[in-house]
Amino acid sequence: MPKLYKNVVLWDAERESASLCDVLTEGAEIAKIAPAGTLDGEAAFDGRGGTAMLPGFVNAHGHAAMTMLRGLGEELPLMEWLQKKIWPVENKLDAETAYIGAQLALMEMLSTGTTCFADMYFFMDSVAEAVLAGGMRAGLSRGIVPSQDGGRERLDENLKLARDYDGANGLIHVQLGPHAPYTVPTAFMTEIAAAAKENGLGVQLHWLETKSDWPLSDGSKTMNPEEYLEKTGMTGVKHLLLAHCVWMEKEKFPFYARPNITVAHNPKSNWKLGSGTAPVCAMAEAGIAVSLGTDGASSNNRLDMWDEMRFASLAQKGANLDPTLLSARDAFRMATVAGARALGFEKTGLLREGWTADFMLVDLDKPHYVGWDLENLPGCIVYAGSSADVKATVVAGETLYENGSFTRLDKEKITAQANAARKRLTSQA
Ligand code: NI
Repeated sequence: MPKLYKNVVLWDAERESASLCDVLTEGAEIAKIAPAGTLDGEAAFDGRGGTAMLPGFVNAHGHAAMTMLRGLGEELPLMEWLQKKIWPVENKLDAETAYIGAQLALMEMLSTGTTCFADMYFFMDSVAEAVLAGGMRAGLSRGIVPSQDGGRERLDENLKLARDYDGANGLIHVQLGPHAPYTVPTAFMTEIAAAAKENGLGVQLHWLETKSDWPLSDGSKTMNPEEYLEKTGMTGVKHLLLAHCVWMEKEKFPFYARPNITVAHNPKSNWKLGSGTAPVCAMAEAGIAVSLGTDGASSNNRLDMWDEMRFASLAQKGANLDPTLLSARDAFRMATVAGARALGFEKTGLLREGWTADFMLVDLDKPHYVGWDLENLPGCIVYAGSSADVKATVVAGETLYENGSFTRLDKEKITAQANAARKRLTSQA
């Protein structure tokens, strides 16, 4: 059914400035964008010149069901945190709690303007079902490490996930999700890269997150990180999404400047866990594609891309003593279209005719936006705006969140189920 959005202030990362427009969506796509007042028909929504229409955020790295683990073991060193607080609880997760956790994540993301997200976790059938029921867009991967006896079951599970869900409803793409070079032996990583190539799948991989990641990898004994990516075959996969990249060496940046490689920058998780500041501006200058993600709710602890985007921009300026770094436009590009491309959604992340109707409506009629105009809107959005300004979130033409309510998700029921599940997960018995 066509839907007409009248008098909205339209902007995306490829537009020099915002403009006042009428927008017609048809099914899952944007059918027409025209100057305000020129499209006839009854308006499904009238922005009255005070509502921004922006592409929805694409959260390029995370572990959605970790919403069930939020707040466990704060302020601990990474390995101690994982071993004592996270892994014991993760061992108790099952398909049902993963489904509930994914639904919690969906609510948090939709209410903060995110329309698409990357995920690497387990019980991914549950996550896929939650995504389809909730109507969001996602790039899903099964976190792969060898099974206890060294077997490849999790790779097979990930390949089955691809057979079952890749392309589902036009909303899901499946990638392979080898966890990291320090948890996946080199031979297995090579096998995973070969499977990705054979099946035409992209890969999500944690890469050089902390200073000790690479020294802990068995590949480090004979290779440097870039040789490892070459020799395992990872550079040959359809698309390689490298999460974190805090400890990538500057001299090696040109190696990563390839059309099939994207960095997923997770500044708040990196700071909260004391991992460091990824030099993403220098990466971008070297031609590397950089996207933005929140990482899981237990290491951020928000799945709020507004917050992430603002923090990313401020952290680059502060860490490099340079206020000109990571402009509002570049931060917004990282938070939208860059992630969509990395997950294989070629027509998502910008507002264009024929592209997916994935967007948020943002209330500019708020005290902290006084002074906005069509030219300065990007700065207003990135530096002054927040997720509290999101009025509605639309994915594939369907309104999934509006004025505090979800159209498909039952907030009270999911929250009650999540509270009960959390008690079960964290009880000692
Ligand atoms: Ni992660």
